[in-house]
Amino acid sequence: MYSTAFLDLPALQAAAGEVPLPGSKSISNRVLLLAALSSGTTTVHDLLASDDTRVMLDALRQIGCVVDESGGSTVHITGLGGSTPLSPAKLFLGNAGTAMRPLTAALALLGGEFELSGVPRMHERPIGDLVDALRQLGCQIDYLGNDGYPPLRIAHAQGVPALALAAPIRVRGDVSSQFLTALLMALPLAAVTQPIVIEVVGELISKPYIAITLQLLARFGIVVEHQNWQRFTIAAGSRYQSPGDIHVEADASSASYFIALGAIVTGATGQKDAKSGIKIQGVGLDSIQGDIRFVEAARAMGAVVTGGPNWLQIDRGAWPLQAIDLDCNHIPDAAMTLAVMALYANGTTTLRNIASWRVKETDRIAAMATELRKLGATVEEGADFIRVTPPERVEDWKPASIHTYDDHRVAMCFSLAAFNPAALPVRIEDPKCVAKTFPDYFEALFSVAQVAAPQIPVICIDGPTASGKGTVAAAVAQRLGYGFLDSGAMYRITALAALQAGLAIDADHEARIATLAQTLPVRFEGSKVLLGSDDVTDAIRTEEAGMNASRVSALPAVRTALVQLQHSFRRLPGLVADGRDMGTVIFPDAPLKVFLTASAACRAERRYKQLISKGFSASIEDLRADLEARDARDSSRSVAPLKPAQDALVLDNSDLTIEQAVEKVLTWWQERQPFAASAQR
Ligand code: DC
Repeated sequence: MYSTAFLDLPALQAAAGEVPLPGSKSISNRVLLLAALSSGTTTVHDLLASDDTRVMLDALRQIGCVVDESGGSTVHITGLGGSTPLSPAKLFLGNAGTAMRPLTAALALLGGEFELSGVPRMHERPIGDLVDALRQLGCQIDYLGNDGYPPLRIAHAQGVPALALAAPIRVRGDVSSQFLTALLMALPLAAVTQPIVIEVVGELISKPYIAITLQLLARFGIVVEHQNWQRFTIAAGSRYQSPGDIHVEADASSASYFIALGAIVTGATGQKDAKSGIKIQGVGLDSIQGDIRFVEAARAMGAVVTGGPNWLQIDRGAWPLQAIDLDCNHIPDAAMTLAVMALYANGTTTLRNIASWRVKETDRIAAMATELRKLGATVEEGADFIRVTPPERVEDWKPASIHTYDDHRVAMCFSLAAFNPAALPVRIEDPKCVAKTFPDYFEALFSVAQVAAPQIPVICIDGPTASGKGTVAAAVAQRLGYGFLDSGAMYRITALAALQAGLAIDADHEARIATLAQTLPVRFEGSKVLLGSDDVTDAIRTEEAGMNASRVSALPAVRTALVQLQHSFRRLPGLVADGRDMGTVIFPDAPLKVFLTASAACRAERRYKQLISKGFSASIEDLRADLEARDARDSSRSVAPLKPAQDALVLDNSDLTIEQAVEKVLTWWQERQPFAASAQR
């Protein structure tokens, strides 16, 4: 997951390959609640790990369910099975509508005292119609903030309330289908001696989500009949029964981004035997999720989609895509993806009947309109529709910093704008908001996106020893979400490997050490460096290892042998490369090269503090003399001498803190980006 302030997507050209998708949010949270209401233990396979399922699991634990998460994406839940939940309890539900609404209904019927709250946006998302329906039944629910919105309190100190169940329970269906889902999942608790009837007032929106609810209720032993989606009858004698094991399908809404991707891209040209198209694993055409019907919309725009029980294959068909005019009531979430596909269409696309967008994670109609306009599209919005006309000419596309409104779907669908014909990068602000449903979305995108190496940005940072370049480079990489290449480590590891193989580090063994370097079994795992299966993180950091590295790095054949390995670090979304010849030899086309330096006195002092803090004794004078001698040697050597690349910016950080040096480099980097200054931070 990228936890950076923003993530810059370089212009992407092509994509192909296979993507496994995480589990469906809607199915995950419904299954968790149903398991919590059942007796016995339910084993949930392929559960989505995300913010929304996290708050649900935490809440279930708080009310007394036993939750065992030791099995990765397989979670065991032992339900309440008719016993009273633990209370009083304060439940924090983040921005998860799929937790807030059903838990409110279930806890109101189970009895006890609860406070349910969420993030500020959750407190702007309506719940009044559900509360009205529950109050009709006799539940006591108070608003703790604004009427009609969370936070709220369920006040049933005396246990299960007496419920008025004889008359049909009426609930509005035209604001959010989650109100009906909440009642459908909770009321079986009360349908013991008599059937319970729910009547929907107003046209029911998002019917497919109700269909998922009914399907899952059936898996947990609850029979619900409905007449034309207006009148739902829960059978008398209802009792939740755990199915034992249940599998969560991959999220069909998440699939929409990759279906769109397959429709937009071709595979990289010129690659022999390259597989084309995008294959999605985990969800197929027979999915129970309503958003699978996104496939029809994508086909209408030109995508060629085939599929089986648990997979989909998408290839580009019509190009440019065909503009469409579509009622999207049946695919409210996935339809956002259509709004971005519309950027690649041959005319104006209209998405209708999407009023529910206004009460989702953000006002999605306003959000989509604003951000699509930033890219150069012409957008018209209404109470319940959006109309998108793509930029007319290639020159009309604009580089945009996409604000994401803490809305995972805004972030994910706008990543597709990186395939724009103007080859402009796209900035996604607050990329971690995808954690709501798809924490590794960008990693998944990068795993199939293909881009020529020169298109991937590289920042090179070099400088004399103890200048702080390693620390600054790592911090810059972290701030941008870029990879980090510590090229010095390559030489340190090569030296170590040579010595382990019994080779003295000298010109006589140059060829053999070079061969070793070419097939170096090195891996970087977080801050760990592994050579084969050995953790060599500390071994390569000693002064002696540094001296050996210096000697090995003076052998031209070894330098050549390491070129390919270093090039392989140039991966999406970008790279910060630290070391001697990064800007001159390895990445001469890097758009930013920094030569970080500091006075010898200053570097000696830093090294001194570093050594003392590790418990070594040292003398500043000796260290300074060593550094000056090493500078002289490094600058005058014939192989890869220490000197700034011609086009490097020199940054003397003698009087700067690490943080200030990092900021300076980031400012230089920002100045090279096309995004408007207002979007920079
Ligand atoms: O940055 P460092 O101290 O880990 O580097 C170890 C040695 O390798 C040092 O003598 C410089 C040399 N080196 C090099 O020649 N080329 C690089 N790209 C990186 C390091």
